[in-house]
Parts: sequence; C-alpha cells; structure tokens
Amino acid sequence: GTKKIGLLPADGIGKEVMPCVVKVLEALKAPFEYVNLDAGFECFERTGTALPDATVEAAKKCDGLLFGAVSSPSHKVEGYSSPIVAIRKKLDLYANVRPVVSSPVPGSLPGIDALIIRENTECLYVKDETIEDTPTGKRAVAKRVITEAASKRIAKLAYQMALKRASLHNRQGKVTIVHKSNVLSVTDGLFRESCLAVAEASELHSIKTEEQLVDSMVYRLFRDPQNFDVIVAPNMYGDIVSDGAAAVVGGLGLVPSANVGDEFIMCEPVHGSAPDIVGQQKANPIAMIRCGAMLLEHMGMGKESVAIEEAIQEAMHAGTLTPDLGGTATTTEVADFIAKRAVEI
Ligand code: NAI
Ligand code: MG
Repeated sequence: GTKKIGLLPADGIGKEVMPCVVKVLEALKAPFEYVNLDAGFECFERTGTALPDATVEAAKKCDGLLFGAVSSPSHKVEGYSSPIVAIRKKLDLYANVRPVVSSPVPGSLPGIDALIIRENTECLYVKDETIEDTPTGKRAVAKRVITEAASKRIAKLAYQMALKRASLHNRQGKVTIVHKSNVLSVTDGLFRESCLAVAEASELHSIKTEEQLVDSMVYRLFRDPQNFDVIVAPNMYGDIVSDGAAAVVGGLGLVPSANVGDEFIMCEPVHGSAPDIVGQQKANPIAMIRCGAMLLEHMGMGKESVAIEEAIQEAMHAGTLTPDLGGTATTTEVADFIAKRAVEI
C-alpha cells in the first residue's frame, strides 16, 4: 500500500534539496504520499519552537521521514535547541547509519565501501553540562553516559549489517569497534566489552572483529580507508569519524545518513544548511537524493533504490555536477538528470 512520508526541509539548502529528492521519487512513481512538516531555526523564529508538537505528532503517524538541514547558531539562543537531536530522541532513532562509498569524482579515493554505525542517544551528547566558579577561574564539567543496553543494541545492528553485507555483496564481513578504553577504561571499556559480548553470539562467528582506538581510527581512515567494512562507535567518536570519512569520498554534498529505530527510519544528508551558498542553485542535491534511495531500500524497494544510485553514477560520469565537485550544473539540472535517467534504467 501507499506509505506516508513526512518531509522536513527545515532551513537553508535543506529547502533547495528537498524538492530534488521528491522529484526523483515521484518520477519513479514510488508509492508514497508526502506530508510537509515544519521544523528548524526559521520555524523557531516564527513560532517560538524549532520542533512544534504538531510536527512530532504528525511525524509519528508517518512510515518514514526525510530531513533536510537545520541552521543551529553556534552561540546560545534562549529557548532554542536543535530539532534534529530532539526528533532522534522522541522517535527513539538509536542508530545513525552512514554508507561511505567511493564515487567517480575528483576528491574521492577509489575502492572505499564502508558503513559507519554511530550510537545516537547517549555518550557526551546527553548534554548534561555544568559550570561553576572556583578560586582559579571557571570549571565546566560534562557527563558522559554509556550503558550496556544501548551499546549492545548498537553492536547488534552493526553485526547484523555486516552479515547482510557479507551475503549480499560478497564481502569479508568485518566489524571495527571504535573506542578509547586505554584512557577511558570505565565508559569506553563498557562500550568495548558490550560490543565484544555481542560478537561472541554463535551466528556471528563468521564476522571478523577488530578494535581501533579513535585517534588511530582517524589516521587509518585517511591512510587506508579501503580496509574498513562496518564501523561501530559511541555517539561523539562516530560523529567525528563519519564527517572525516565524507572527506575521502568526495565531500559533504554526496553522503547520506539514516537514523534508524526498531520501527522507524529518518534519512538526512550529512551536510548542514550551507548558508554560504544558499539561494544560488549551487547546492549539490546528491546526498539528499541518496537519502531517498536509502528510504526506498528500507521499505523493500531495492530495485528503485539501485536505479537512483546508477543514475547518480551516470551524472558523475557525464560531469553533470554542481560547483563543489568542479562542475557548472545547477541544483535543479543535476536533479532533473538523475530523475530522467533513474526512470530509464
Ligand atoms: P555545512 O555542511 O552547512 O557546510 C560546510 C561547507 O560545505 C560549506 O562550505 C557548504 O557550502 C558546503 N556544503 C555543504 N553541503 C553542501 C552541498 N549539498 N552542496 C555543496 N556544498 C555543500 O556546515 P557548516 O557550515 O558547519 O554549518 C552551517 C549550518 O548548518 C550551521 O547552522 C550548522 O549548525 C548547521 N548544520 C546542520 C546539520 C544538520 O542539519 N544535521 C549538520 C551540520 C551543520
Ligand atoms: Mg556531525
């Protein structure tokens, strides 16, 4: 039957790339009904909240969501907090899944096909911070929460994905656990032990496990990114490692992500609202269009998902690219090319 998809374009280029993915999905006649939902910084300025209750209620009634990008100020604005962090929490989207794959564009290294799985609910991003005055100046403290339950839940997803990739794509099947338990032996130690406990499950013995301290993880990601399959990390390490990974495959304009819960998925590009290029038709729509492909795959429409990726590859080979990839095409031209070719494939 028809699935209900909530669209949250939010701010900046989010509003420019959202129509692009809808255009491609509509061209493919995906059995979706779309609902526009309000969120973001502009929404905050208009309504006093970045994530209205009505949006959360409507989102819960959807089968899946597409999120554009939000403009979060780097200084504290009274009453504002990021809607993307809130919506992940409200819908219990406990995993952030990022495929990092080589592309035929300048700036991408060849042979990379990794999947980063980041814990999405705890670690330092519980945002429990305090500050106090002391005789020698201010002292700020942040709480870092790691639980066995959340660590095992994320590890299970990582190992399941490694199994699936091994059977579908004929891969070696490997999970790299990222931590820093040599220094943070209690918190990262618990994350590490929880992941290793999951790896012990008998059906997972065909999957290889390796561990990587987060600093050398970054080093190896830049030195030999081809060597990774599935990577699993606590929230903040995962955040940092996955933005770094975007750099070796052609940049932020290409990389999608999915926030996954047991019942629900919300796909969003890794990039932000890009205020420096907004309104100039320079935004690369490929990351957002790939979010549409991830949504289709999740909903069991693998064929359409593959057609989108093949059309994207053709756009790259044809050089129909936005300025971030050295091209001269506009946002709309790239989206039109992909929509047209995806249908023909
Ligand atoms: P950004 O990702 O918006 O931009 C970084 C650089 O990459 C800029 O030069 C931008 O022009 C370029 N870029 C990003 N996406 C592109 C695309 N699709 N096509 C072509 N070029 C692209 O990150 P920045 O500048 O750090 O943050 C800008 C705003 O976005 C801030 O308010 C930040 O809070 C927000 N942000 C939101 C995120 C989200 O919605 N999940 C994630 C990251 C940042
Ligand atoms: Mg980030």
